[in-house]
Order: sequence, then C-alpha cells, then structure tokens
Amino acid sequence: MKVSIFGIGYVGAVSAACLADSGHDVIAYDPIQVKVDCINEGRSPIIEKDLDKIIKKTTSEGKLSATNSIKEAVEKSEISLICVGTPSREDGSLDLGYVKQCCKEIGETIKDKDSFHTVVLRSTMVPGSAMNIALPILEEASGKKAGIDFGFGNNPEFLRESTAIYDYYNPPKIVIGASDEKTGKIISDLYKGIEAPEIITDIGVAEGVKYADNAWHAMKIGFANEIGNIFKDCGIDSHKVMNIFCMDTKLNISRAYLMPGFAFGGSCLPKDVRAIRSVAKEKSINTPIFDALMQANEEQIKRAYNMIKESGKTKVGMFGLAFKSGTDDLRESPLVTLANMLIKDGIELKIYDKNVYAASKMDGANRHYIENGIPHISKNLVEKPKEVTDYAEIFVIGNGDKEFVNIIQENIANDDTPIIDLVRIGKEIENRSGYNGICW
Ligand SMILES: NC(=O)c1ccc[n+]([C@@H]2O[C@H](COP(=O)([O-])OP(=O)(O)OC[C@H]3O[C@@H](n4cnc5c(N)ncnc54)[C@H](O)[C@@H]3O)[C@@H](O)[C@H]2O)c1
Repeated sequence: MKVSIFGIGYVGAVSAACLADSGHDVIAYDPIQVKVDCINEGRSPIIEKDLDKIIKKTTSEGKLSATNSIKEAVEKSEISLICVGTPSREDGSLDLGYVKQCCKEIGETIKDKDSFHTVVLRSTMVPGSAMNIALPILEEASGKKAGIDFGFGNNPEFLRESTAIYDYYNPPKIVIGASDEKTGKIISDLYKGIEAPEIITDIGVAEGVKYADNAWHAMKIGFANEIGNIFKDCGIDSHKVMNIFCMDTKLNISRAYLMPGFAFGGSCLPKDVRAIRSVAKEKSINTPIFDALMQANEEQIKRAYNMIKESGKTKVGMFGLAFKSGTDDLRESPLVTLANMLIKDGIELKIYDKNVYAASKMDGANRHYIENGIPHISKNLVEKPKEVTDYAEIFVIGNGDKEFVNIIQENIANDDTPIIDLVRIGKEIENRSGYNGICW
C-alpha cells in the first residue's frame, strides 16, 4: 500500500521504517526539517535498536522517503497515519494541538483528492477525542464525509521504546477502530503477515484499550513495588514471592477479577488487604495503592447507592445479598453494606437470595449472624422471587446468579422498569429501556 506518516518521532519513525520494510511504499512528513533530512539520508532520527539499519535499507531500496510537504505526502499515499505527539498539559489533560493542526492540514489536502483516502490516528488520545475532536476538523477541512468519501479510524500503538522494532513485528495485539467495514479492512491490510490477534472495533473502544493498558501497566509497577517495599522489611525476597505469584495464570495473570462491576467483599479480600496495610503501617512504609483499594471499594458501593437514589424510587427489590452467587456467606458482603445504606435512608427493601434465605432457616453460624448481626436486613429477606417482583419499583441485580435473568424476563413485563445491574448478568436483559449497568 502507499502510506504517509505524519510525525517522525518515536512512533512515526518506527512505523514508517517497519511498514516500508514490510513492502509498503512509505512517505513520512514532519515540520522539523532535520527529521526529514535524517530519513532522506538513510539515518534514524532517534536512538532505537535496529532502526538505523532498517531506515538505511528501505531508503536505499526506494521504499521509504520523507518530505516537508503535506500535499506531497497525502497525494503520494492512499492512507495517512497520524503519529504526532499528544503531550500533557499542566492540569493532566492532553494537548491535542498537534493532532488538530495535522487533521486540518490533511483535510485541506484530501478536499481536492479524487481517490478514496484513509486517515488513521495512531497518536494516543483519550476516548472520545477521535470522534469529537479529530473527525469534525477533518470533515470540515475536506468538505467530505467519513465512511463515505474518506476512511477514518484509529490504530493505537503498543510499542515500547528500546524494543520498538521487535514489538512492531511481535505486537501483543493489533487493535483497529474504524468508521466503517471498508476502512477496517484497509487498516488491517497494513499489517498482513504479522502474527497477532487482530481486533477491529469501535473507535472509542480502541482509544479506551490504550488507556486501560497503560493505566494497568502503571498499576502493576506500583503494586509490585509496594509488595517489594513491605516484604523487604519482613526479610522476605519479594522477587521469589512475585515469581510464584506470576506462575498463577488462573487467578493472578488472567482475566479473573478484571471485568468492571461491583465492589469486592467476602471473608478474605477486605480482611487481607487491611492486614497487609497494617504490616506496612507498623513498619512506617507508605502504601498509597493498598490504601486506595478500600476507598475505591467504598466508592463503588456509593456509586450503586447513588444510582438507586437518583431514580427517585423508594421501593427497591434486590436480587442477591451474598457477595457472590453460589454461597450463603454474608461476611463483608458489599450488598449488605448497600442494603444498610438504603434502609438507613428509609427505603423499603425486599431481598431475594435463595442461599441466604435457606441459611437463615438452618441452624448454624450464618443463621446466627443473620438474626443477630443484621436483624434489620433479615426482616427484608423473602423466600420467593415474586415477592420482590410484585413489590418493587426498581430492581438491583447484586450477584451473578443466572436465575435472576429468568426472574426478570418472566415477571417484569414493563420494559421501562428500572433495573440496575451490578454484575452484567446477561445480554438477554440489556436491551430493556430501563436497564442500567453500574459501569458499562
Ligand atoms: N513513544 C512511545 O513509546 C509511544 C508508544 C505508544 C504510543 N505513543 C503515542 O504516540 C504519539 C507520538 O508519540 P512520540 O513519542 O512518537 O512523539 P514525538 O514527540 O517523538 O514525535 C512527534 C512528532 O510529530 C511531529 N509533529 C508535530 N506536529 C506535526 C504536524 N502538524 N504534522 C506532522 N508532524 C507533526 C513532531 O515534530 C515530532 O517529530 C503520542 O500520542 C504518544 O502518546 C508513544
């Protein structure tokens, strides 16, 4: 394909060189003349392993060149990749000045171009930026419509400086956001031959992936360092701990616990997070990440509470009281906390949880806890789901017992009835107009 690259920085230089090395005809543009000269002289404008060699080879083969003319770059290509910087402003927000300028310039050039041109954002931008900021500029400057007259998409970059070339050829994934199917296919063709999972999705989702990735990487580093700081003081080799931790690809390095939803609870997580924090405190070690875990958890309960309050409804039906389905264990269930908050506000509550109800009728620790620990809540526990559905004006799905889907479908006829889902229980009910997920 004929490709133009806008911005000869870390991402632009690597993309330009590797795309040319993969057989595409690449022309790179940058307003800084010395970067243009560098490429045309077959040299790398940045220090990056193997980049010099690839630029030397591809420029001598005539596959890669650079220009200081936007018009030339757009005219000599069918697809433009925007790789300009998106630096931080003082308040932490992104400065999209370079992206805006670049979109305006490309738009003004594709205005007079007869053939279909595709514009792809490779710069990192917060979700919504492509559709709400970049696209209107391109459409206004070109007088053309995305998806019809030109292709528009994004393709976040996942390379790491110092191993960027290796990462280009061995990416963890190829993520493409596209305005339409044709554009998705065009962007995908750039990477033919590279073996990696390829995901073509909505532009906003592709933008979001990049932020979830980088926030997660930062989180992992901060987490591992807090573990290390505490265990060093305990005389324990933190690398030995984390080596074993990383061997667990079922619960630790896995999808487990990574789907947005409700607060954690139960007999272990809250207790153990508190305990590790207390060890750190004893040793005067600051653990801002561990400290924030409990706060983040409380915020998620408050979020559910606010959603119920904002509905203005006062008769609430809760499905689930235990912290997860398949157990009657109520210890530190966030649903008990939520129920308490609602009851305190004078909200009338009916709760259906067959496991907890059964436990309340059986002798044992749970019955004792239900009767003595949460007597005000146990009054609201009902045996049959219909007692909830016949009564409430708003429903809260608190844990993932699949039975709740059928109960809703069979007993709540009005599609507008508000349902707040804390666990994303099933697609079957997501199209109801009253449906509202806690964070999706
Ligand atoms: N550096 C990385 O490792 C990395 C990895 C993934 C994603 N990203 C993202 O990619 C984007 C680019 O990052 P970078 O590190 O390559 O930036 P960079 O600052 O190294 O390069 C940006 C280049 O864009 C040029 N430029 C500015 N305005 C321009 C315009 N109107 N038209 C064309 N070129 C213009 C600049 O002169 C510069 O050469 C950023 O959004 C960044 O967050 C960077």
